[in-house]
Amino acid sequence: MSVDVLLGLQWGDEGKGKIVDYLAPQYDVVARFQGGPNAGHTLEFDGIKHVLHQIPSGIFHERIKNIIGNGVVLDPVVFKKEITGLQKFNINFKKNLFISKKAQVILPSHKFLDDAYEKAKGDSKIGSTLRGIGPAYQDKIARQGLRVGDIVSPAFEDKYRHLLNLHKTILRYYNYEADFTEKEKEFEDALHFMKSFNIIDSEYFINQAIGNKEKILAEGAQGSLLDIDFGSYPFVTSSTTMTAGACTGLGVAPSKIKNVYGIFKAYCTRVGSGPFPTEQVNDIGETLRKQGNEYGSTTGRPRRCGWIDIPALKYAIMLNGVTELMMMKVDVLNSFQEIKVCTHYKLADGTLTDQLPYDLCAANYEPVYTTLPGWHCDLSAYRDRNSFPQQLKDYVCFLENALNTPITIISIGPDRNQTVSTKS
Ligand code: GDP
Ligand code: IMO
Ligand code: MG
Repeated sequence: MSVDVLLGLQWGDEGKGKIVDYLAPQYDVVARFQGGPNAGHTLEFDGIKHVLHQIPSGIFHERIKNIIGNGVVLDPVVFKKEITGLQKFNINFKKNLFISKKAQVILPSHKFLDDAYEKAKGDSKIGSTLRGIGPAYQDKIARQGLRVGDIVSPAFEDKYRHLLNLHKTILRYYNYEADFTEKEKEFEDALHFMKSFNIIDSEYFINQAIGNKEKILAEGAQGSLLDIDFGSYPFVTSSTTMTAGACTGLGVAPSKIKNVYGIFKAYCTRVGSGPFPTEQVNDIGETLRKQGNEYGSTTGRPRRCGWIDIPALKYAIMLNGVTELMMMKVDVLNSFQEIKVCTHYKLADGTLTDQLPYDLCAANYEPVYTTLPGWHCDLSAYRDRNSFPQQLKDYVCFLENALNTPITIISIGPDRNQTVSTKS
């Protein structure tokens, strides 16, 4: 039938995993289209909390087919660990999980390269998750990467050795000491493990599903402000995190995309280096981090916290063609007497703009805020937008007007049940 896309509008960690899991029963297929083990998507239900890195967030639903698409960079070692961690849930992976032959493989040496490049950057490091993402995408674009489909080929060993030697030469240039012995053994075991899964021509699989009138949800990783083209370059990830990435990362024609769900937090966070105009390096930021438990799901690093940024959200909505918004972690603002919203940026010459500057790293602009009253109460009993405290209703209306897009889901806690749908 058609493909809906769900993606983050900020710097990642907006709560994509929770909402994919929540929406999954409405779909037949959930498919990841980019990124890799840099992602950490958290799901909570029935007292269980689980963080997924490469496996799509529809995996806990028995009926749903989950696809790791061609746009993903897949680490076999992390894959094996993830599957092992899921064993207790009795998931039928043979029936429910499919890996694209065209997904790129992350080698142990990609992770060493990631570390070497970051160390060489010194103070200007990206703050990468060091999962080998950048180097694996580099090899893809350089047309020398290894793909999942290659692992069953007799030529795999030669191709692997060739690429590994190249990586070793680069590592020597960086004077990077790397001990491969244990890592290679782990990698070989993981490749062997992966061969027993469904490795498929995912572009045919997905288009056949579309032809069979099945409903597909494309699950984004990272966020729009980390996009390789439109994010806060160079402090970005190495993939297209936008709606367009779902087309190339799954082999789906643009005309097949229907709804685009844009997820954002009721405030804003970022992990790693790079510009963050509304960051609050003060008590406000500390409170947001504490209340929101803002520590990376993949690396455990403290997330930087700040106020919501309307120019940045407008930019992401425009580029992604967002049709519906989903606001997450509203409960984290419960204790605030007042809430600030960055509505514009003021440029050096005093003009106001609601467009993002070319270089977010430049210091020639400052955020302009509007202050709204907080609701200052616990939201756990609320399950209906109409009964929300007036101040929360006003906050939602303010954002919908400013962003010119309806907010159809409001999340008031990490659990699947703590989700308010505002669709009539
Ligand atoms: P993702 O990468 O976009 O899937 O998001 P992460 O899982 O990295 O980070 C979101 C974090 O917020 C996770 O720990 C979730 O369990 C949690 N979370 C999601 N929605 C809510 C919410 O509405 N309220 C609160 N307090 N936590 C939430
Ligand atoms: P999910 O899917 C938040 C950030 C890193 C770093 C930059 C580049 O859970 O929202 P990389 O490892 O990709 O080379 O790192 O991007 N980053 C994320 N931040 N959530 C993520 O994923 C991220 N994936 C990468 O912190 O700043
Ligand atoms: Mg995350």
